[in-house]
Amino acid sequence: MILVTGGAGYIGSHTVVNLLNNNNDVVVFDNLENGHIETINTLKTIGHIEFEKGDLRNIEDIERVFSKYKIDVVIHFAAFALVEESVKNPAKYYRNNTFGTLNLLDTMLKHDCKKIVFSSTCATYGDLNYIPVDEKHPQNPISPYGSSKYMVERIMQDYDKAYGMKSIILRYFNVAGSDEFGRIGEWHEPETHLIPNILKSIFDKDKKFKIFGNDYNTPDGTCIRDYVNVEDLAEAHKLAIDYLNKENKSNIFNVGTENGNSVKEVFDICSEVTNKDIPVEIASRRSGDMEALYANANKIKTVLGWHPQRTLKDSISSAYKWEQNHF
Ligand code: UFG
Repeated sequence: MILVTGGAGYIGSHTVVNLLNNNNDVVVFDNLENGHIETINTLKTIGHIEFEKGDLRNIEDIERVFSKYKIDVVIHFAAFALVEESVKNPAKYYRNNTFGTLNLLDTMLKHDCKKIVFSSTCATYGDLNYIPVDEKHPQNPISPYGSSKYMVERIMQDYDKAYGMKSIILRYFNVAGSDEFGRIGEWHEPETHLIPNILKSIFDKDKKFKIFGNDYNTPDGTCIRDYVNVEDLAEAHKLAIDYLNKENKSNIFNVGTENGNSVKEVFDICSEVTNKDIPVEIASRRSGDMEALYANANKIKTVLGWHPQRTLKDSISSAYKWEQNHF
């Protein structure tokens, strides 16, 4: 059985759909602080899942799950993920993302479960020496969010050496899109991400879309990111599990498309896909934003055979379908 922590959240829920499509037995563990019970209910209409409400900060919650089910492998998404909030409240991030993960790993060891796929982030790299970023780039995270994930990466490497626990660390770049049928999607409160904010401004006139800075040293002056489709990302988790089961080795992979798109380019594709004249204004830079960030994803392509199947336009189309269904 596969345990998915954070399976009621954005990336977790899309990965659960992939696992169900591949006939896996799945138990979802989520505290529903950022995840949604509606997402769990939708997942239950797609396939059979067990749902256990609980919080990784309480070791007895996760112990209960391991006592109840025979867990073979864990995919660990459950985390807080707002960079700005983490600067203001680092305790929240270290307690949940780092200490909570320790509770999970120790419970896994107790129950002799030694395979885990972990959601890490390109935020662990910090300021960049070069782009595209490969996995060998130095890691000097500049936010408590990035540090909380980086610490877990280090813990996992030590747990492999000491206890033989095998981990696949996936460092995501910017995630975009939704389930192709619009059943589940990106649902954050508050929403800070680019694509949902552009699309929401179509439905909610009070949420006028703002471009955070057009004076960066990029061709059109706006920031560049690597937008990976959420269903393609879900597939990377499936391939990571196959690799763990076959090779029984730890490894680390970037998950990105290797394409950089500017905020203005994303905005233009949103206007094209939705066929709407979306109101926009230029605002000042958002603190902490990097100018340009995109992946070298050669390793995951070569070792796991993962290749992005969906374009940025596909991601925006599915995200729009979700926003239309959701509002
Ligand atoms: N942006 C806008 N307007 C908005 C929202 C975003 O102009 O309303 C711009 C941002 O300034 C940035 C780009 O769009 O240049 C992308 O911003 P997102 O908030 O969508 O994503 P980030 O690149 O800031 O964050 C992502 C992940 C984080 C991760 C971070 C690491 O979502 O979890 O990359 O750099 F920590």
